[in-house]
Amino acid sequence: MPPRQPPSTPAAVPALSRRQLLAAGGAGALLSACALPASDGRTQRVQLVAQPAEVALRGAGQPPVQAWSYGGDVPGPTIRARQGQRLEVEFVNRLPVPTTVHWHGLRLPNAMDGVPGLTQPPVEPGGRFRYAFDLPDAGTFWYHSHLRGSEQVERGLHGVLLVDEAQPVAGFDRELTWLVDDWRLAPDGALDTRFLQPHDVAHAGRLGNLVTVNGRLPQPVVLRRGERIRLRLVNAANARIVALQFDGHRPLVLALDGHPVVPHEPPRGRVVLGPGMRADLLLEAVGEPGRRYAVGDVFFPRAAYDLLELAYAAEPLRAPDGRVPVLAANPVPEPVAEGALRHVLTFEGGMMGALHSATLDGRQVPFMELARRGTPWAIDGVVGAAHDGHAGHAGHAMAPFLTVPRGRSVELVLRNDTRWFHPIHLHGHAFRLLRQGGRDVAQRPWLDTVLLAPQEEATVAFVADNPGDWMLHCHVLEHHEGGMMGVLRVA
Ligand code: C2O
Ligand code: CU
Repeated sequence: MPPRQPPSTPAAVPALSRRQLLAAGGAGALLSACALPASDGRTQRVQLVAQPAEVALRGAGQPPVQAWSYGGDVPGPTIRARQGQRLEVEFVNRLPVPTTVHWHGLRLPNAMDGVPGLTQPPVEPGGRFRYAFDLPDAGTFWYHSHLRGSEQVERGLHGVLLVDEAQPVAGFDRELTWLVDDWRLAPDGALDTRFLQPHDVAHAGRLGNLVTVNGRLPQPVVLRRGERIRLRLVNAANARIVALQFDGHRPLVLALDGHPVVPHEPPRGRVVLGPGMRADLLLEAVGEPGRRYAVGDVFFPRAAYDLLELAYAAEPLRAPDGRVPVLAANPVPEPVAEGALRHVLTFEGGMMGALHSATLDGRQVPFMELARRGTPWAIDGVVGAAHDGHAGHAGHAMAPFLTVPRGRSVELVLRNDTRWFHPIHLHGHAFRLLRQGGRDVAQRPWLDTVLLAPQEEATVAFVADNPGDWMLHCHVLEHHEGGMMGVLRVA
């Protein structure tokens, strides 16, 4: 395969630096982030402090980036607990701004969901909040700020949350976690702090010019032939969609958004993850000792680049045997088609779209004015956000787009009537993806986020068994804050 070019992103974003490419060729193993103190059995207790931090994104010898962190580094500490345990997080805000923590993908009580103005008041500077909830599902999840995420998640407020299976899974030699993120740095290397730029909001969101894995320039990952690796992927970028392609390898998808699937090769050999999405892969090390293989991101075909390299040690571990470890399903209630509440949700707006006007704060506003105000997106004709992006901040509670009696099955048709990709995320539930792009989906995977291509439609189904007001929004954070959000009420 020819060497790939670095990502060059639309508009005024400088291309990935030469420096990144050079440094990516250096030696060293990629570490999966460290674990926190051991469990006391029933409950896992963790302290999480949001604080400013200097982060050496580009490695030692390069000026660090001024970031916001959980616990002093980006990503924050990997929180690890076991399925069936309770997680208690003592959260402290040492940032100069209010914030909250959202536990992405978890089925938890509404009051613990971390959405300011909807499920809790913002945690003010110097303030604390105690998050405590049970963990019914095993899998790869993550946590992040849910207040003005376009700035706070971009500055570094995110981390991985791993829930180990109640019964340990046999057959992996090793586990790796790659949290992929991108950063938009100014020419002097500092973080570009012009968040929510109107152009980004109305187009594809804020794309960065430096891609990191676990908060650093990616380093080669050392493998031994024959190893069976559980590779957990998390896309924590504000807007970048990645399509990972493994030269010389045929990884199998074992789980999506934390929930096991029948192991399969991803379509066209590419693992596509929009912002917020996760995948667990079986990466069997079938490469030749001493050789190197690229892992590329080919989502933008003309801006494909090598994310990192797999570097084989001289000593093999064993002959690859194609054995596939089995993950047990999570106890998610099965929706029933008969009697399900059906609702069509239309996503509209953005540049080059068909939206002429939409309702903002109860008033019908023409599209050009919406774009000027930084809110060019709507769901069912309603702009879902104040410009600074969190429900309730402007003093108005968001009216739900749909109210469902608790326990009812729901079928949502998600219709993307725009020219842009949107990873649509629902809080507090997992849904089955039934149809997408006019076809039935064979596996009907459980997801919490579904990536809609331009003009694409998808149907998802779930049991609305978790009472409360739950956000549904695009996980391109500039789209979210630009109006593409709504509230589903489970009464
Ligand atoms: Cu990952 Cu509403 O968020
Ligand atoms: Cu979007």
